[in-house]
Amino acid sequence: MEQHCHKPRIFSGIQPTGNLHLGNYLGALTQWIENQYRYDSIFSIVDLHALASQDSHLAVPIVEKVRQTAALLIASGLDPERSALFVQSHISAHAELAWILNCLTPVGWLERMTQYKAKAAQVEAATAGLLDYPVLQAADILLYQTDRVPVGEDQKQHIELTVDLAQRFNRLFGAIFVVPKPLIRPSGARIMGLDDPSVKMSKSLAEKRKGHVIGLADPPDVIRGSILQAVTDSGSETRFEQASPGVKNLLTIFEALSGNPRPAVESRFEGKGYRYLKNEVANLVIAVLTPIRVRYLQLVNDTAYLDRVLGYGADKVRPVAVSTLEEVKRRIGIEAPCSG
Ligand code: AMP
Ligand code: TRP
Repeated sequence: MEQHCHKPRIFSGIQPTGNLHLGNYLGALTQWIENQYRYDSIFSIVDLHALASQDSHLAVPIVEKVRQTAALLIASGLDPERSALFVQSHISAHAELAWILNCLTPVGWLERMTQYKAKAAQVEAATAGLLDYPVLQAADILLYQTDRVPVGEDQKQHIELTVDLAQRFNRLFGAIFVVPKPLIRPSGARIMGLDDPSVKMSKSLAEKRKGHVIGLADPPDVIRGSILQAVTDSGSETRFEQASPGVKNLLTIFEALSGNPRPAVESRFEGKGYRYLKNEVANLVIAVLTPIRVRYLQLVNDTAYLDRVLGYGADKVRPVAVSTLEEVKRRIGIEAPCSG
């Protein structure tokens, strides 16, 4: 088994849905990018997970969306020289370990997952893939002996399941897996939809509702339009705890992007009205996203470069995954123990 000798390791994944949004950026990517020099960092574009959503087979092939996602990640500041960036399906150990973990996972654990319940309710017949989604996620994390998993708030329950599976496996077969912890930022870990602040900003709603998300590659006029139309209320409250959900969401976006302390954000907007708040939030979002968009447009058609980065990333991490999987197979008795 691979033991990491130097820095602690972070691992995280993102589905290849093409245009990532501000929720992905604040909840996940900023943490990936800020931590990539401090940790040994591995990030995966999880195309096998994407198969679990019904709409994944439509229009644009997943391989294209994988490249777009890679371009957006690099444009956002992920440094492929420092962090390993790879495509989940390029390393077959993910699917193999997922199967082994499946055989230790009570179905009841999976049926309790809130993300599963929400997604299953939207389809006529939920697939086994949808139910099993968190086990594949656990395999992703455990293969790399991960210490911390930087994610948005919505993934907390999946990381808890990963912890339960790691502990169960370690108890039954001897300590193999590092038991990971989530890394969730205190503010910005759950960005809500601009058009409906009662639901999380999400890619699946982006296609159905105009003004729901801010895409990382959206042009400035689209960003401003969506923010100016964001749902607020008829009052003027700009304190985080007293504000209505839509206003709180805008304040949170400002707080997380500016890095300003909460009291400074509150006093900045006190008594100024929501139009002012929206314009200031739009200015800040546009200032942060414009360089990302410019860089993305330069990168996205450079297929050769993107494929090279992804191939290099997979080559870099494959030995870790293979060695963990081999050790797992030995412990459960489907591979001969090492001699000597
Ligand atoms: P996904 O798009 O579901 O693959 O999510 C990728 C990452 O973005 C995960 O770490 C999620 O927790 C995070 N994320 C997704 N939506 C949001 C949101 N609305 N607010 C904050 N983080 C989010
Ligand atoms: N399920 C995660 C999401 O939708 C994506 C993901 C897959 C992931 N594997 C992972 C996140 C491993 C962290 C670690 O956001």
